[in-house]
Amino acid sequence: IMTKQQLLDQIKADIITHNVCPNLAEQATQLVFGDGTSDADIVFIGEAPGRQEDEQGLPFVGASGKFLSEMLASIHLKREQVYITNIVKYRPPQNRDPLPEEKKEFLPYLIKQLDVIRPKLVVTLGRHSGMQFLPELHISTHHGQPKRMHLKLENGETQIVILPLYHPAAALYNGGQRQTLMDDFALIPHILEKIRK
Ligand code: URA
Repeated sequence: IMTKQQLLDQIKADIITHNVCPNLAEQATQLVFGDGTSDADIVFIGEAPGRQEDEQGLPFVGASGKFLSEMLASIHLKREQVYITNIVKYRPPQNRDPLPEEKKEFLPYLIKQLDVIRPKLVVTLGRHSGMQFLPELHISTHHGQPKRMHLKLENGETQIVILPLYHPAAALYNGGQRQTLMDDFALIPHILEKIRK
């Protein structure tokens, strides 16, 4: 019987074995799979690694990662207590937006990660990440509003709660969005408390 961490390691190995997005893989330094604990109650999902993430092989370690860590600290959480990942797991060249087909290719692996971790709450960072789960999402009206949804898995389906938030990189340089994101973050403990599981 495999531990959750071993199952996650297997998904990571599969991305390489299955040759996912070879064009991105070729130009990236390495795969940026995820960071944190496989026992997390909360999974944070960004879009794609940037330069520093590509260099270190870890998600959210640059400027937006520092901001994310500060917001986690504000709700008394350390990075090691949550799980952080991205939809697309190789850095797109010149930090361009990931293409729809790149997101589509990586999505099954993200869903497998969620199936292993089974978090109480999935927090999407940015509208692109949110729209993978909530295609009707309007981030400016729906941010900070948790939504229950069904997630289709390989065998069956599960209920998850999605909380769409603004992306920390965008919020960093926009005072209004920055405060909104921090206010939304402050809701997380209350939202978690309300979710029974
Ligand atoms: N932005 C993202 O969406 N993901 C990262 O890992 C870093 C910055």
